[in-house]
Amino acid sequence: MSEDIHSVMYLKMNLIIRMFILCIASPVNTTDNIDVCPTSCDCTKWDSTKTVSCFEIDVLPAFHPSTKELWLVETRLTSISQDAFANLINISHIYISDDESLRSLERHSFHKLPKAIHMGIFNTGLPSFPALGQIHSSQDDFIL
Ligand SMILES: *[C@@H]1O[C@H](CO)[C@@H](O)[C@H](O)[C@H]1NC(C)=O
Repeated sequence: MSEDIHSVMYLKMNLIIRMFILCIASPVNTTDNIDVCPTSCDCTKWDSTKTVSCFEIDVLPAFHPSTKELWLVETRLTSISQDAFANLINISHIYISDDESLRSLERHSFHKLPKAIHMGIFNTGLPSFPALGQIHSSQDDFIL
């Protein structure tokens, strides 16, 4: 009897160890769940709308390529680099608000945003919105 329990436990342990090895060995699944939500960002709406909201960040993190909606709130970015959003092929909304330190956008910050249809920039230190001609969107209903 006790030997049976012992062997069942052994089998269970064995299974757990195998599953653990499978988990760490299998490639990262990027289809449905966000694997890494950037620090200081909230991804609670990821499953429904692929939304990432980041608060009070100084540096733009790497965003998951499936991100569709991005909110940058009360950030302390001084600039937004060239191709900052270039890997976000399905991005459709970018909002930047309440960033007084944001003073410049690189000429190509919003370069190559094929599905960018809504973009909002509110209460930033930007004296102007430069280089509108550098925003390339294939959407006819692009709204700024
Ligand atoms: C982008 O959207 C298309 C259509 O919904 C989807 O098939 C594709 O997997 C998405 N790409 C990424 C990187 O999420």
